[in-house]
Amino acid sequence: MELGQVLEALPPLTDPNVLVGTGTRDDAAVYRIAPDRALVATVDFFTPIVDDPAAYGAIAAANALSDIYAMGAMPLFALSIVGFPRDRLDTGLLAQIVAGGAAKLAEAGVPVVGGHSVDDPEPKFGYAVTGEVHPDRMVTNQGAQPGDLLFLTKPLGMGLVATAIKRGLCPEELAEAAIAVMAQLNREASLAMLAAGVTAATDVTGYGLLGHLRNFAVGAEIDSRAVPYLFGVRELAGLDLFPDGSRRNHAALDAVVDWDDLPEVEQLLLSDAQTSGGLLVAIPPASADSFRAACPKAVVIGSVTPGDRIKVIS
Ligand code: CO
Ligand code: CO
Repeated sequence: MELGQVLEALPPLTDPNVLVGTGTRDDAAVYRIAPDRALVATVDFFTPIVDDPAAYGAIAAANALSDIYAMGAMPLFALSIVGFPRDRLDTGLLAQIVAGGAAKLAEAGVPVVGGHSVDDPEPKFGYAVTGEVHPDRMVTNQGAQPGDLLFLTKPLGMGLVATAIKRGLCPEELAEAAIAVMAQLNREASLAMLAAGVTAATDVTGYGLLGHLRNFAVGAEIDSRAVPYLFGVRELAGLDLFPDGSRRNHAALDAVVDWDDLPEVEQLLLSDAQTSGGLLVAIPPASADSFRAACPKAVVIGSVTPGDRIKVIS
């Protein structure tokens, strides 16, 4: 059974206040509490992906907030989730992880109001974040229109970097640059997309760029040469350091992607599993310039087309 299918075993959602549930693989759940107010809820945690404990905490925090920002919502507060081998590792490390996460949440103006920890042979860290959005202004992964431009707000390559770090093969400058990218909040990008009349958005994480684009359930044309990668990532791709998740993503895309004559290594780059990636945003062409001005790091990587196939231009 594929992990995604496990959710299908849940009873169907019948509560009319559930505005976004499990059906559309969206970034967060949305629950209406008043005609003009809805809560947005998400949870995200993972095992260490970098060596620096404070950076791990900061990345986990930015990543957990990201699903809230992808929905066009404002985060309100967070609860921490901790798994830690207290007999095997110094709890001073955990204190640094927690402090790194709290500092990143403070940057976003989000208090940590509680949490839960368990003894765990492998460290895990993350947050359940609750946010708020006006039900008429929430942004989901459904709604992109043919002609919309597709913007990406962070470079790709984090899956490769994480594997390279684990194997001791990542150049120091690349690891530092990747940490800076992963710890970056998607807040500005979220505010910019709201101002520009975004039609659909998601953050790019475990399923990779094309896996998350697929959840838009529209056709798209992606210019492979326009997709931004962190410097040095192509060298890691040449060393074949793709994690298993990226290979699974690639295999799953076969049914919906026309690869043109793109070399396999480029296909894997577009399928690479990301941690705390940027927002993938569909913007009507008339608003593209204002979005670009408000979010200068955003790059156009393609456009929405009729149908449901993703065509990659090599
Ligand atoms: Co997400
Ligand atoms: Co998530």
